[in-house]
Amino acid sequence: MQTDKMIRVQQIVSGKTPEESLALLGKEFAGKIIFSSSFGLEDQAITHIIFSGNIPIRIFTLDTGRIFPETYSVWNSTREKYGKNIESFSPDKEAVQKMVSSKGPNSFYESVENRLECCQIRKVEPMQRALKGNEIWITGIRKEQSANRDNMNSVEWDEKNQIVKFHPLFDWSFEEVKDFIKKNNVPYNSLHDKGFPSIGCQPCTRAVKEGENPRAGRWWWEDATKKECGLHEK
Ligand code: ADX
Ligand code: SF4
Repeated sequence: MQTDKMIRVQQIVSGKTPEESLALLGKEFAGKIIFSSSFGLEDQAITHIIFSGNIPIRIFTLDTGRIFPETYSVWNSTREKYGKNIESFSPDKEAVQKMVSSKGPNSFYESVENRLECCQIRKVEPMQRALKGNEIWITGIRKEQSANRDNMNSVEWDEKNQIVKFHPLFDWSFEEVKDFIKKNNVPYNSLHDKGFPSIGCQPCTRAVKEGENPRAGRWWWEDATKKECGLHEK
């Protein structure tokens, strides 16, 4: 069943541009296809394709409660530019209250275990809720982004969420994404101009230096080669 769906998606997107792939998938899986945006540069390019092409793909974000003010600004300017809504999924209130009451607001700096607990509550569980009932999950992941992502494919099966994932910009370079944003006058997060190639939650993201790995600024205090939060692990 999952293999049939994977094969079908692979057939649809094979040899197609991101614009063509999203339009075809939107048509075939209408009501069962959803795009998660964290308002990064790649996400903004995909949002532009979906909104300007009136493609029937829902767009949502996980409002973790800890995102940058700049991220809220680009969320708002995107709504205004396209005249369309981006759905918001919040973490479970009780779970956040329990964690913050017992461990304080910045428990993630204290151990990897605490960090993963916070990501589980603020990102992973709301993501599972958002994806429920859908068959296709679109993301802004690119192959170049980290060693782990180099082993991924543009179409994948996500066992945990029982869903086919498609990354339409998987093969694009960072330059190609930047050119697309510029050419189409797409709103983008102002932090990208201040040394932030990859933007997550505010307390867990810092700027990177010229030539540093683009994901070096995510959970920078953790000495791990594989910096993921559980959203995209297999
Ligand atoms: S993360 O796992 O390290 O946080 P990253 O920031 O690289 O992910 O983003 C990769 C993709 O994950 C994005 O293109 C988007 O599809 C999804 N994503 C990450 N964070 C969020 C979020 N807060 N809300 C919605 N989607 C997100
Ligand atoms: Fe919590 Fe940081 Fe994960 Fe955001 S990135 S959910 S603040 S640990």
